[in-house]
Amino acid sequence: MHIVQFILFAVPPLALAVNLPHSVGFPCDGSDLTHDNHAKACLREPYCPGREVDESLQQEIFTLFLETLYGEKNVSKAFETYVDPNIIEHDPEDAQDRDAIVARLSQIIPFANLTLLLSNFNNNTGLAYVKVNEDPEPAALADIYRMDGTCIVEHWDVIQYRPENSTNPVAMF
Ligand SMILES: *[C@@H]1O[C@H](CO)[C@@H](O)[C@H](O)[C@H]1NC(C)=O
Ligand SMILES: *[C@@H]1O[C@H](CO)[C@@H](O)[C@H](O)[C@H]1NC(C)=O
Ligand SMILES: *[C@@H]1O[C@H](CO)[C@@H](O)[C@H](O)[C@H]1NC(C)=O
Ligand SMILES: *[C@@H]1O[C@H](CO)[C@@H](O)[C@H](O)[C@H]1NC(C)=O
Repeated sequence: MHIVQFILFAVPPLALAVNLPHSVGFPCDGSDLTHDNHAKACLREPYCPGREVDESLQQEIFTLFLETLYGEKNVSKAFETYVDPNIIEHDPEDAQDRDAIVARLSQIIPFANLTLLLSNFNNNTGLAYVKVNEDPEPAALADIYRMDGTCIVEHWDVIQYRPENSTNPVAMF
């Protein structure tokens, strides 16, 4: 086990986040981003407004956002931690207001059966492909997020339902 990983697992997360100075073995250079606590320890300041970091750390922050939104389903925590208050939102059912987005999604995501099928991050852009398990057929959701450094600043999404009498017999998933 790598020594930095060993330290990460050996030190209680709270002590890690609060007490250790920036210089104690946590280079923010993306060289050892194998554990969530690394991103948290490496970046103790808020993620927003965005600061320039290398891509692997952006990817790790994006992964934490997805885990909070779709895994933990804590919409307010996900948005307040990782998303700019002045997010540019392109979903026509949403508003240009982070609190309004949180209010709307809080009525949906905690009650939805969602499976995050894949995610990726490249060139300041994060992608999440989500299976929305609904009756009688699941729907496909794709989210695209733009990050400015450490902070998510823009969002697009598309959703597709299997139409009645669909021409393609192949399953959507
Ligand atoms: C969401 O996260 C916040 C901050 O961590 C916490 O106070 C709140 O209880 C969480 N809400 C739910 C529904 O888990
Ligand atoms: C969510 O959907 C999956 C796939 O259809 C299903 O296996 C699972 O039981 C569902 N979970 C809940 C809590 O309904
Ligand atoms: C990276 O994203 C920018 C827009 O943010 C775009 O103009 C550029 O073409 C992209 N580069 C690649 C290699 O995709
Ligand atoms: C699907 O096919 C059934 C049977 O032919 C037909 O009654 C129904 O109107 C069709 N639905 C749509 C949305 O085309």
